[in-house]
Amino acid sequence: MFSNDFFFIVDVDQSKVSLTTYDNRMNNLKQLRRSGLFDTNVPRYTSYPPANHFGAQDGRTHQSEWLSAVPDGSTVSLYIHIPFCKRLCWFCACRTQGTKSLRPVDAYVENLLEELRLVRSKMRPNIALTRLHLGGGTPTILSPQTMQRLLTRIFDAFDKADDFEFSVEIDPTEASDALLNMLAANGMNRASIGVQDFAPMVQEAIGRPQTFEQTAHVVNVLRGAGVKSLNMDLLYGLPHQTLPGLSDTLQQVLSLQPDRLALYGYAHVPWMSKRQVMIDADALPDGETRFALAALAHEVLVADGFEAIGIDHFARPGDTLAIAQSKGTLRRNFQGYTDDTSEVLIGLGASSISKFPQGYSQNAAATSAYVKHVLNGELAGMRGYKMTLQDSVTARMIETLMCQFTLDADALATQFPAADDLIRAKMKTIADRFPDHFDATPGRLIVKNASRPLVRIFAHGLDAFESPDKRHSSAI
Ligand SMILES: C[S@@+](CC[C@H](N)C(=O)[O-])C[C@H]1O[C@@H](n2cnc3c(N)ncnc32)[C@H](O)[C@@H]1O
Ligand code: SF4
Repeated sequence: MFSNDFFFIVDVDQSKVSLTTYDNRMNNLKQLRRSGLFDTNVPRYTSYPPANHFGAQDGRTHQSEWLSAVPDGSTVSLYIHIPFCKRLCWFCACRTQGTKSLRPVDAYVENLLEELRLVRSKMRPNIALTRLHLGGGTPTILSPQTMQRLLTRIFDAFDKADDFEFSVEIDPTEASDALLNMLAANGMNRASIGVQDFAPMVQEAIGRPQTFEQTAHVVNVLRGAGVKSLNMDLLYGLPHQTLPGLSDTLQQVLSLQPDRLALYGYAHVPWMSKRQVMIDADALPDGETRFALAALAHEVLVADGFEAIGIDHFARPGDTLAIAQSKGTLRRNFQGYTDDTSEVLIGLGASSISKFPQGYSQNAAATSAYVKHVLNGELAGMRGYKMTLQDSVTARMIETLMCQFTLDADALATQFPAADDLIRAKMKTIADRFPDHFDATPGRLIVKNASRPLVRIFAHGLDAFESPDKRHSSAI
């Protein structure tokens, strides 16, 4: 859990934020700024190497071989990307395109079914599905009929593993009751609801109107249909966001009693996500306010009984994410923190990334190019990366640091006996470079509580590829 050193004191009963200790917090923050780390831009490390280091053809070269190497009797996870939305929110950096009609969506789903058939045909017969996640874009844009067609084919292709879980990303303004009930009837047991912020001025500035009532309605329908676990996505660092405004949003969100929350720092990357040019960059909070917003949310959520998971997730004690964190089995993948321990994640759909022990394969990013491959009867993998032993070691070290805030040389060397020297050398590198931020004992580094928000910067110190680059989002 994060130290209180950086966070505001909250009077929970009155749901008001007291700023009495604000000056102390800001002094700590200024120390961080003086250390030169505060303004660093680094990857989010949802994969290592980050996707910008994938080679142009490595997915195309290896996808088939890696699919056929998935062992008989093992389990895999499936991510399905739906790159369509009826509205295009200005803040959004996800790969998606606007559509007013369902015709391109239905046509795309037909391609997904064909890709599923192709991918499954490369794999051994006795492989079960442990996780199914529908993301986007907006998966809930699909009609109930099209969604049923997709799910039926997925469940025909793979048996469900005993611990099977099915989750869907939901835009509350684009999810009919019929669709939500149908998803629940097909076994959806987790839903992730996009909120971002309820403050009207913020919603206007990010081009995403969404009332509390719309959100509450979706929550009620999902709970009524028996969906036990609800996550909500919130953002800090949005234009015109203030501490009192975020505090109000948090109280509204808490009144809906989510089981998990993701609190992402808004990534302002208009060079990658063109629609963000609609955002007034002058209205964005500065680095210190961003930090204070994240700290406020952290304090409010922990005071409400949530456990902080990694750098940007929160879960109720007893939630499987919280259990995974306490058992040291928390993982990080393209969706953020997860308790999914499967070694293989298969991504279907335009731009989806598949992860194998041997490396990554990313489908053609443009929907038109993706469709062309599938119509030609080809796998859609294009960019990708084949891991060396050094890459696998670094990936595991970065994931461990991001999930557990600790590196233990002996434990890592047990997983990679041939890389003992490399592990210790990398640990020495970051211990020397960031001496004020670790509690170091021989063979062990623990990120100090107050330095946890900087963990992406320490992870970057392990990264063999990168130098800080303004093209990435802010580290905090
Ligand atoms: C695929 S999107 C949203 C799903 C759904 N379409 C919706 O609107 O609710 C998943 C999440 O990515 C996060 N996200 C999108 N753009 C972001 C950005 N620029 N910076 C940080 N997080 C972002 C948001 O929190 C969003 O809820
Ligand atoms: S936030 Fe959701 S609805 Fe808005 S553009 Fe992104 S994926 Fe589409």
